[in-house]
Amino acid sequence: MIEVKGVTKSFDGKTILHDVDATFQTGKTNLIIGQSGSGKTVLMKSLVGLLKPEKGQILFDGRDVMAMNGDQVKQLREEIGMLFQGSALFDSETVLGNVMFPLIMFSRMTYSEMLDRAHFCLERVNLKGADNKYPSEISGGMQKRVAIARAIALNPKYLFCDEPNSGLDPKTSILIDELLSDITHEYNITTVINTHDMNSVLGIGENIVFINKGYREWVGDMSQIYNTDNEALNHFVFATDLFQKVREYVVDNERRTPPSGQSR
Ligand SMILES: Nc1ncnc2c1ncn2[C@@H]1O[C@H](COP(=O)(O)OP(=O)(O)OP(=O)(O)O)[C@@H](O)[C@H]1O
Ligand SMILES: [Mg+2]
Repeated sequence: MIEVKGVTKSFDGKTILHDVDATFQTGKTNLIIGQSGSGKTVLMKSLVGLLKPEKGQILFDGRDVMAMNGDQVKQLREEIGMLFQGSALFDSETVLGNVMFPLIMFSRMTYSEMLDRAHFCLERVNLKGADNKYPSEISGGMQKRVAIARAIALNPKYLFCDEPNSGLDPKTSILIDELLSDITHEYNITTVINTHDMNSVLGIGENIVFINKGYREWVGDMSQIYNTDNEALNHFVFATDLFQKVREYVVDNERRTPPSGQSR
């Protein structure tokens, strides 16, 4: 579990995150949602230690990141897998080389153990037979899979994904979401995903934190989002006619089907 308590971050006197509280649960797909510019990436970068907030606490299973010394930060980094906005693969490395990279850098495995692990991760993301291809030779969806394989290579306890679906078609986006969700549950990872993709919100939003203009505005899950009376959230989630219709359908269905165990 990751706990964020009263995190405030400013740049040049302009406050971007205002006293943000949030909890990201173990073994769940935790989503940070919000409009472009709301502060999702700044929050995620603060979580992984790439940015230093002026105020607040970030606790990784009780360990306070901001109170850590260099060695402790290094230890924590080894427990973290990251997927940056865009897949950020190394263009001059092959698919296999990309997945081997964190193992070579951070693990104490023998070379053959590293190869086994890299192949295992590539198989886990359904990418077999692409070992020797370069990122430019594979599709965007495949690049994301490589990035996921690389992010899970070190068997992370925490996985951070900044807009994992950006640039993908809707069908491929859903496949990537399902993969992230499966991996999260299978390995009991605390996964945090930044997104403004409504399919993701409604598909894998087990724990959703809504950020609005740098404030933590709402917390809930994908079933609660249909019934929220939070105006800013409604405006954000149901901005399009399509999602408005989905909500009407779900709410109407809930009205006609009482919760189980309840007699009519
Ligand atoms: N290093 C920085 N220096 C100054 N301002 C920054 C820096 N990083 C982010 N900001 C500002 O913080 C605000 C929030 O940016 P952030 O990248 O977190 O938004 P976001 O919610 O991730 O948006 P998107 O959905 O477009 O990725 C923006 O106004 C941005 O200009
Ligand atoms: Mg962002």
